[in-house]
Amino acid sequence: MIYNRCGRSGLLLPAISLGLWHNFGGDADPANKSALCRRAFDLGITHFDLANNYGPPPGSAEEAFGAILKNDFKAHRDHLIISTKAGYHMWDGPYGEWGSRKYLIASLDQSLRRLGLPYVDIYYSHRFDPDTPLEETMRALDFAVRSGRALYVGISNYPAEATHRAAKILRDLGTPSLIHQPRYNMLQREPEREGVFDAVADEGMGAIVFSPLAQGLLSNRYMNGIPSDSRATLGQFLKSDQVSDTLLAKTRVLQGIATRRGQSLAQMAVRWVLRLPVVTSALIGASKVVQIEEAVAALAAPAFTESELAAIEECLSSH
Ligand SMILES: NC(=O)c1ccc[n+]([C@@H]2O[C@H](COP(=O)([O-])OP(=O)(O)OC[C@H]3O[C@@H](n4cnc5c(N)ncnc54)[C@H](OP(=O)(O)O)[C@@H]3O)[C@@H](O)[C@H]2O)c1
Repeated sequence: MIYNRCGRSGLLLPAISLGLWHNFGGDADPANKSALCRRAFDLGITHFDLANNYGPPPGSAEEAFGAILKNDFKAHRDHLIISTKAGYHMWDGPYGEWGSRKYLIASLDQSLRRLGLPYVDIYYSHRFDPDTPLEETMRALDFAVRSGRALYVGISNYPAEATHRAAKILRDLGTPSLIHQPRYNMLQREPEREGVFDAVADEGMGAIVFSPLAQGLLSNRYMNGIPSDSRATLGQFLKSDQVSDTLLAKTRVLQGIATRRGQSLAQMAVRWVLRLPVVTSALIGASKVVQIEEAVAALAAPAFTESELAAIEECLSSH
C-alpha cells in the first residue's frame, strides 16, 4: 500500500480506502462484510469510511462495522482510521438532517453507540447546508474534536466557495479542516472544473474522492449486460438506464487504453483519480473481495504517459 499525507496534516491515508455505503446493510451477508474488511486491512487499507445513514436500514452499516471491530479488529484500533458523517436525512422531525449543531452532535453520539467506539478518527459534515450559518456547523465540528468524540474533521460535497469559508472558520477555531470528500471519476469531474480541488489545495486540505469507478460503470461489470447481483439491478442509486449504449461505447475505448497499459478498466479508473497530487485517497466500494484485490493491484502500474492521458481525454470528450 502507498500512504499519502493528507494535505498539510500529520495524517497519512492509504491511497485506496474502503467505503461501506453499499453491501454492509442489514440484509447483507455478515461473513462477506467481515471478509471484505479483513482482506482490505491485510492489503494495507487502513481507512474505512462510513456515514450515519449507510445501510439499509440507515445506521446498519455502522452497526456492522461495530461488530467487525469487535470480532475481527479487536487488537487493531490504533491501526485504523474510521470516519463517519452526518448531513443527509437520518431521523424524522426538524433535527434529523442538514447542518445544525443539534443534529451533528446528536447524530455523532448515535454513530459512536452503533460503532461501539468512544471516538471516530474523522467526522464530516456530509453536505453544505445553505440555511444554517456555516459558523454553527463548523463550531459543531470543532466541538466534536474538543469533546473527544473525533480526532479530525472534514467536509463532503461542499462547493468551492463554501470550502474556503469552512476552512477559514475552522482554522480560526483551532481545528483545521483535514479533508474534503467529493465525488470524482472519469465521467464526473465537477471538483476539477468547479474549483473544489483548487480550494482544497489552497487551504492545505487533502481530497478523498468517492465513487472512482462511477459505482461500477468504469469497469467490465456491465460490458455484457446487467448482472443480477450488480448495483444497477438493485436500481436504488445506480439506475439500469445509466448503462447506455453511449456509455458502453466510451468504456470499451477506455478498456482498450487500459489493456495497452496492462490494466483492467477498473484499475485504470482508480489510478486515474490518483494522478492529481491533491487526491490523497481513492474511496472505493466493493461487493466482492476480488474487487478490492483488483483495485489495490492498480497501484503497481506505471504512471500515465502524456499520450495515454491525451487518449483518455479524447475518448471522454468525443463520445
Ligand atoms: N460523501 C458522500 O456523499 C458519498 C457518496 C457516495 C459514496 N461515498 C463513499 O464512497 C464509497 C465508495 O463509493 P462507491 O461504492 O460508489 O465506489 P465505486 O468504487 O465507484 O463503486 C463500487 C462498486 O463498483 C463495482 N466494482 C468495484 N470494483 C469492481 C471491479 N474490479 N470490477 C467490476 N466492478 C467493480 C461494485 O459494484 P457491484 O456492487 O455491482 O459489484 C462496487 O460495489 C462509499 O462506500 C462511501 O464510503 C460517499
